[in-house]
Amino acid sequence: MDRRAQHIVRLLLALMFLTSMLTMFLMALSLDVKFRATPLDEILKSTTEKTVLLAINTAFSLANSITNVPNETMTNKTAVKPGELFGKNVNLHPYIYIRKPSTICNSTGYNPDPNLLILVKSNVLQIGRRMAIRATWGNLTNTSIHIAFLLGYSPLVESFIKMEYNVHKDLVQEDFIDRYRNNTLKTIMGFNWAASYCRQAKFVLFVDDDYYVNIPNLINLIKNIRKSKNQNVFIGHNQTHTEVQRNKNNKWYVSTEDYPNTNWPPFISGGSMLLSMDIVTKFANTFPYVKMITLDDVYLGMVAKILKIKLTHDKRFSIRFVRKKLDTLITSHDYGSPNDLVHEFNRLLQMKKGKINF
Ligand SMILES: *[C@@H]1O[C@H](CO)[C@@H](O)[C@H](O)[C@H]1NC(C)=O
Ligand SMILES: *[C@@H]1O[C@H](CO)[C@@H](O)[C@H](O)[C@H]1NC(C)=O
Ligand SMILES: *[C@@H]1O[C@H](CO)[C@@H](O)[C@H](O)[C@H]1NC(C)=O
Ligand SMILES: *[C@@H]1O[C@H](CO)[C@@H](O)[C@H](O)[C@H]1NC(C)=O
Ligand SMILES: *[C@@H]1O[C@H](CO)[C@@H](O)[C@H](O)[C@H]1NC(C)=O
Ligand SMILES: *[C@@H]1O[C@H](CO)[C@@H](O)[C@H](O)[C@H]1NC(C)=O
Ligand SMILES: *[C@@H]1O[C@H](CO)[C@@H](O)[C@H](O)[C@H]1NC(C)=O
Repeated sequence: MDRRAQHIVRLLLALMFLTSMLTMFLMALSLDVKFRATPLDEILKSTTEKTVLLAINTAFSLANSITNVPNETMTNKTAVKPGELFGKNVNLHPYIYIRKPSTICNSTGYNPDPNLLILVKSNVLQIGRRMAIRATWGNLTNTSIHIAFLLGYSPLVESFIKMEYNVHKDLVQEDFIDRYRNNTLKTIMGFNWAASYCRQAKFVLFVDDDYYVNIPNLINLIKNIRKSKNQNVFIGHNQTHTEVQRNKNNKWYVSTEDYPNTNWPPFISGGSMLLSMDIVTKFANTFPYVKMITLDDVYLGMVAKILKIKLTHDKRFSIRFVRKKLDTLITSHDYGSPNDLVHEFNRLLQMKKGKINF
């Protein structure tokens, strides 16, 4: 090899090294990848407790049984288009609750104002984020502000989730596999649960587990809504004229077969949205008749269009993390790690001299 070729080989090697480092860095950034669930055999080795073994066995058989979704529950792809209302059930949602808290929406313990239920959409693996939320903004609850987490299922962490539930009793969980592309199933579960088991609540905030929520500002918004004429609301960050992603590698990809139009109907960003219970119930009653798509917020936009529900934009529902404005925003996306959330919360507490004025 001449010197030039050697030089090129060295350059290529360096490039390969850099690319692999970058890939590893990007992987580390994605929390789902970074989170290491304890493998089952390790759990088995470290415990002899019969109940845990039983839970794991149950989890395994459950996982096996639910991977075979019966054919009759599948919709006819060629006949049914998303965003259209059908006279028959095209969205069966054939999942069952694994966990369903009975104490959160107890009619005897529900006070009139602000009468808010907060449902946090959380990946079942993100135990750390839930801990951080419970320790920070999620702890600002009283008998008229309640919080629960919406989870899918993973056999890997079942024994941990069992313990988490026993301690906090704040998990709503169905038996579908917890994956990003099953996000709409989780959202539907939340609407169904609220409409069936928490009708006493007047408002529901749906929020992802990577959001900061300024509870006092949220309470003020609700108090203002309750003073206004129209108390049936669907509020958040309005998205209009959003193009459908046709790049297969994109997180939000949808095929032309599934949705032929170039743009989505208007929708509220799914990360944080405030709805009145009347509207939550209307949605829950309509889901069975509208074919699902994997993007939960777009799906809600489609159903809202059918139901002629008005979308209200409020820029304080921020899809970005704006550290400087946490005290004026209502929600703010992407706080970083669970530790960052605790840090930010404590910083705000200090700013307010430890007093959280509702
Ligand atoms: C579902 O349908 C496919 C083909 O359409 C068939 O191969 C499969 O056996 C069916 N599964 C069940 C559980 O009926
Ligand atoms: C699906 O719907 C199309 C159009 O209505 C129909 O031609 C086809 O036979 C249906 N397929 C099944 C499996 O029901
Ligand atoms: C509501 O709470 C009370 C007191 O904690 C309890 O006795 C009752 O069983 C609860 N009701 C439901 C429906 O969970
Ligand atoms: C919630 O706040 C109370 C004080 O109001 C505190 O005693 C409790 O430890 C907090 N919970 C968590 C999980 O930090
Ligand atoms: C969503 O959940 C269902 C039911 O558990 C499962 O069959 C399916 O594979 C999951 N989807 C993804 C993309 O993992
Ligand atoms: C929200 O989007 C809809 C649809 O484009 C639009 O009609 C409405 O004016 C928007 N609202 C705000 C406040 O931007
Ligand atoms: C709960 O907190 C909110 C916000 O401060 C307040 O308006 C409400 O009166 C409280 N409810 C009870 C029962 O303490």
